[in-house]
Amino acid sequence: MGSVAAMGSLGFVLFSLLIATQANIRATATKCIETKECSAYDVICTNTDYEVRHYNASKWVSTSVQSYFMEMAAYDGFRKLFKYIKGANADSVHIDMTSPVLIKKSEARNMWEPVTYTISFLLPAAYQDAAPAPINGDVHFLEMPEMYAYVKSFGGWMLSVNAKLYSNLLSRELNAASASYNTTFYYGAGYNSPRTVFNRHNEVWYIAEGKPKCSGQQT
Ligand SMILES: *[C@@H]1O[C@H](CO)[C@@H](O)[C@H](O)[C@H]1NC(C)=O
Ligand SMILES: *[C@@H]1O[C@H](CO)[C@@H](O)[C@H](O)[C@H]1NC(C)=O
Repeated sequence: MGSVAAMGSLGFVLFSLLIATQANIRATATKCIETKECSAYDVICTNTDYEVRHYNASKWVSTSVQSYFMEMAAYDGFRKLFKYIKGANADSVHIDMTSPVLIKKSEARNMWEPVTYTISFLLPAAYQDAAPAPINGDVHFLEMPEMYAYVKSFGGWMLSVNAKLYSNLLSRELNAASASYNTTFYYGAGYNSPRTVFNRHNEVWYIAEGKPKCSGQQT
């Protein structure tokens, strides 16, 4: 049953992609509109290639999935975290959905090995200090440290093909700017529910090492 649902959802995503790629190549959508709370940040600088943001430390609920496919990992991880916020926790409380949904992709060591994806939901402010324990042993809390992120936005869907395209582009731009960042992973950030078809907003992030570099034409 789970795999039927997975295939159905994947089919829906692929179908929606056909519509969305034509209508919405550019990231013009407003970000925080589908959830009450979103991850807050300060913009340090913006140029034509990327934005530099500062995030304060924050607490997330998180799960890791080994997979060859980002779509499968995202589906599996999302489902586990969604159950947690819908009551699969020690207090059986419903916790509001937040955005973005983060998916961390670690660099593949070998092509034939599955990649570890970590999917995370930001805990709402009311649960930042104390959140009920997850029932599923695969779900855990994640203390995200304070960080500077290099961010590139795009529309359409957070699919492996897009994530790869935009993370490659961002890493080339960062290399050209001699910016220091952790090359071993990137984050994909999705701000919309799968039911939203138009004006979707997605991002890829690389995490700066040391002081972030603001270069190029500032906008
Ligand atoms: C981050 O923390 C600093 C210090 O507490 C605070 O001044 C700032 O407003 C915070 N930034 C955001 C986006 O919440
Ligand atoms: C880069 O990220 C990896 C994975 O999170 C971590 O193990 C490593 O220490 C980081 N490198 C640096 C220089 O911080």
